[in-house]
Amino acid sequence: MRVLALSSSPRKDGNSRLLAEAVLAGATSRGHDVEIVDLCEVITAPLRDCRTCRLADGRCSIDDGYETLLRDKVTAADAVVLATPLYWYGIAGQLKIFIDRIFCYIKAEAPRSGETMRLLMNKRLAVVISAEESYPGASLGVVAQLQELARYLRHDFVGVVRGVANSRGEIRRDPAGPLDQAYDLGARLFDDAVTDYRMDTARSGVVWPCRPERAVKP
Ligand SMILES: Cc1cc2nc3c(=O)[nH]c(=O)nc-3n(C[C@H](O)[C@H](O)[C@H](O)COP(=O)(O)O)c2cc1C
Repeated sequence: MRVLALSSSPRKDGNSRLLAEAVLAGATSRGHDVEIVDLCEVITAPLRDCRTCRLADGRCSIDDGYETLLRDKVTAADAVVLATPLYWYGIAGQLKIFIDRIFCYIKAEAPRSGETMRLLMNKRLAVVISAEESYPGASLGVVAQLQELARYLRHDFVGVVRGVANSRGEIRRDPAGPLDQAYDLGARLFDDAVTDYRMDTARSGVVWPCRPERAVKP
């Protein structure tokens, strides 16, 4: 399987990128093909007014690496890892722009919009967040937004890892071990069922029938 991580911090030696790298290391341990892209190297402009921006043939006129990223890497991925620092209790701007500009490729006027929509759907999604503040509410908005994005794209939202850190690389010292959690998430990216029950969903009552029991670490 192909796993693509989109890192949205401008700090390439920062904490959220380390989390993304750990997810990819876990995925690699299971034989998956992995790649990481720094969005700040690809995206140079936010979404504009498409009426005045798009070319005569419907293509987006913003001339940066976005289209190549979307068409060659994102559509080809089986799983996407979104890595973001917490900025003002939300996602980093580069990630928001990445999401916003999907619009330019799926609206009716865009070339191959139907095919693009189909190729963007039904993937596995993992999210990693680095924040200075540790209280759970700080990053709830990010999780809520990206969960809705996953629902819209019919992605399986496999999991979220949050690490607490501020200075570059400090996440390695977070006693909760977010890098280990991220590695574990990467290793399980395609393994576990992602569940979203309704009252009448048929289910056995056992969530992990085939999993070995894990001991509490001493
Ligand atoms: C513009 C900006 C806004 C931030 N806003 C928050 C915030 O709302 N809450 C928080 O806990 N940390 C906030 N931080 C701290 C970062 O989330 C934290 O340093 C994070 O580890 C940075 O990730 P990075 O190393 O991947 O860039 C902010 C940092 C910056 C630069």
